Amino acid sequence: MSIDKVITISGDVSCEVVIGRALLEEVCKSVSKNGKKVLVVHPVGLSTSAELLREALISAGFEAILAGVPDSEDAKRVEVAAFCWGIMGQSDFTRSDAVIGFGGGSTTDLAGFVAATWLRGVQLIQVPTTLLGMVDASIGGKTGINTAEGKNLVGAFYSPTRVIVDLDTLNTLPRNEILAGFAEVVKYGFISDPRILELIEQDVDNATNPSTDVFREIIERCVAIKARVVSGDFKESGLREILNYGHTLGHAIEHAERYKWRHGAAISIGMVFVAELARIAGRLSDEVVDRHRSVLGLLGLPVSYPAAKWNQLVETMQRDKKSRAGALRFVVLDDIAKPTIMTAPTPEILHAAYQEILDS
Ligand code: GLY
Repeated sequence: MSIDKVITISGDVSCEVVIGRALLEEVCKSVSKNGKKVLVVHPVGLSTSAELLREALISAGFEAILAGVPDSEDAKRVEVAAFCWGIMGQSDFTRSDAVIGFGGGSTTDLAGFVAATWLRGVQLIQVPTTLLGMVDASIGGKTGINTAEGKNLVGAFYSPTRVIVDLDTLNTLPRNEILAGFAEVVKYGFISDPRILELIEQDVDNATNPSTDVFREIIERCVAIKARVVSGDFKESGLREILNYGHTLGHAIEHAERYKWRHGAAISIGMVFVAELARIAGRLSDEVVDRHRSVLGLLGLPVSYPAAKWNQLVETMQRDKKSRAGALRFVVLDDIAKPTIMTAPTPEILHAAYQEILDS
């Protein structure tokens, strides 16, 4: 077991993010001794690793129960949450017992929602196994499920007590999953920490290899930013919105692609779009806009989208705005590490920015 760093989230909630390698024992140590039972929510694709975790929890003196749920977004359905509640009810799960979310962002979103709602809240520990989960989804307490009307419409802000980021779990993750996860990493570079961009630009293969120290440094930098932002604004009433850099158009692209695209691919295009938006509005230099294209290009991420999709994207973004007090909002940059909000840009400027990201 090796712990490289512990990053603390404070403010409205208190949570530790432990980053290191071979951390199975650390997961077991994170469960409160006040309870006896632990529900491990995991995708069926990770059944073998979940079984190892179950055995470790049993050795640590807990009664561990596995809840195998569908992979990816299919986990975030009320029927799947009800399946977990059913297991908890049949196991006489009490308020002192705990839930572990073990998997990617969809699994930890579901596990968090189940933990938040069972008996109005039981201990939650998140163990992300994807890059996206490690740098974003598992940290900060956004939990939820989808409904027929849209993504994440039902949920709760509910913080884990601990997040265990075991970099060894990424060793078997397909390379294109790692690269897609790097879109969120690049996001942190642009909104807060240019050193992240430099590390990718210096040696992209080294930076994206989970076994290197540079990769670990990048993850630690991303987690530190997320922890700082969430500590200052747990319920997204201000600062936290900067984490949505590239996401307004990105979410509309995910919708247009019927959620078959990786999240990172969609927000990669979304980031180039808002960079162009800021440039056209006279806020951002050509150089920083070009840097978006070059760093995302190094990672093999898409930076353009078809002209014919514009009307559909606008419509989706307009629908999305309902949850944001009636106006379209974009996180834009005045410079690297200087994010701000652009509210209600004109249709003309939006269209002009889109013209800059068209497929050739
Ligand atoms: N994924 C953005 C946030 O946690 O606020």
